[in-house]
Amino acid sequence: MNIMVIGGGGREHAVIRKIAENKNVETIFALPGNAGMRELAQCVDIAATNIEAIVAWAKEHPIDFAVVTPDDPLALGCVDALEALGIPCFGPTAAAAQIEASKVFAKDLMQKYGIPTAAYAVFEELPAALEYVRTAPYPLVIKADGLALGKGVSIVSDVAQAEEALRAAMEEKVFGNSGSRVVIEEYLEGPEVSVLSFTDGQTIVPMVSSMDHKRAFDGDEGPNTGGMGTIAPNPYYTEAIAAQCMEEIFLPTIQAMQKEGRPFQGCLYFGLMLTKDGPKVIEYNCRFGDPETQVVLPLLESDLLEIMMAVRNKTLANADVRFSEKSACCVVKASKGYPRAYEKGFVITCGELPENTFVFYAGAKLDSAGNLVTAGGRVLGVTAVAADLKSAIELAYQAAEQVHFDNEAKRNDIGQRALKILG
Ligand code: AMP
Ligand code: GLY
Repeated sequence: MNIMVIGGGGREHAVIRKIAENKNVETIFALPGNAGMRELAQCVDIAATNIEAIVAWAKEHPIDFAVVTPDDPLALGCVDALEALGIPCFGPTAAAAQIEASKVFAKDLMQKYGIPTAAYAVFEELPAALEYVRTAPYPLVIKADGLALGKGVSIVSDVAQAEEALRAAMEEKVFGNSGSRVVIEEYLEGPEVSVLSFTDGQTIVPMVSSMDHKRAFDGDEGPNTGGMGTIAPNPYYTEAIAAQCMEEIFLPTIQAMQKEGRPFQGCLYFGLMLTKDGPKVIEYNCRFGDPETQVVLPLLESDLLEIMMAVRNKTLANADVRFSEKSACCVVKASKGYPRAYEKGFVITCGELPENTFVFYAGAKLDSAGNLVTAGGRVLGVTAVAADLKSAIELAYQAAEQVHFDNEAKRNDIGQRALKILG
């Protein structure tokens, strides 16, 4: 079989590594992929958001199955377009991807179907939003409605900050049209858990839970990033909480999407906060998380491609989905300065990696001399799998020493908060 994967980050590298384990796979094409994954996939220089070019390329190549992982192409209808060509896909339709692409859609869905989430109000006009924040209780959370590269959320502690965030989104349009509407919501407190799940629209199978580390610096300081590291499983997510989430959140969400005529097939990501009033949804993503995928998929013991085909064919209830009892840790190495300005073009070298460790490349490309060089903010993630979390963290940091480039930045405390919980 020939497989086409749309996307080019560390998440896609982790997906491709797992798909490549299937014996029926001949060639994996990555559009655009990145040079760090070239041993596993043939990279094709087409942007993940250029749906027209993706479709044109797919028409000319014998593709048996497509996997669409990033949010933008999903929201732009990449799956709809490829399915119309007769190429079966893993990933939601544009209509189902609205669960991530519009926070207003997601909040209204949760409200309508009684799915626990923060209380909220929606505003389309700046004056009304400004009026609201004058009397609302603080802290408050202000979210741009649309996709904003993970940067559309501001947590504000007084009226002045709220006004600044609202003006930036609605007047200065720093997130483009994504900020024309905003959600203003109640601030929730508690540990955060990411749960990725496979769903074919009827059956939902959660994957092993994980914990992201979004802030740039140690001790959860500094600006928000796409994610500086992850661990799995998340020790806060007990079996009792998992059962409660299944009943109150996971099943109601896929049933709600069905009732709305937007059945969700693909990977549905639940960003949860475990509040004192029970688990609540902070956000939905219509796709695998990055870098959550880099710890979740290395723990998957069954065949990813078969699961993806079962999701597409609505036979997930009969699929084999098993996760290892081990733990995983992923440490991201970024360009110094990320998520703000940074330099790129530094040569990346990788020595011999210890067993059960992997490097997943994200911002990497070949220069004219054929060297692998840095080409983005998050350059790569180093993942280790071990019997317990402590060993996985140690092994990931040990493996990270084997990978070098100038001007690198990483956090040194990935997993430490989780370790404290385990005692
Ligand atoms: P998002 O971009 O939607 O992933 O949100 C970024 C981060 O903002 C989340 O991971 C949370 O830490 C935080 N956040 C979002 N919504 C809330 C909320 N209602 N209360 C507290 N923190 C929030
Ligand atoms: N790591 C969070 C996300 O993928 O949205």
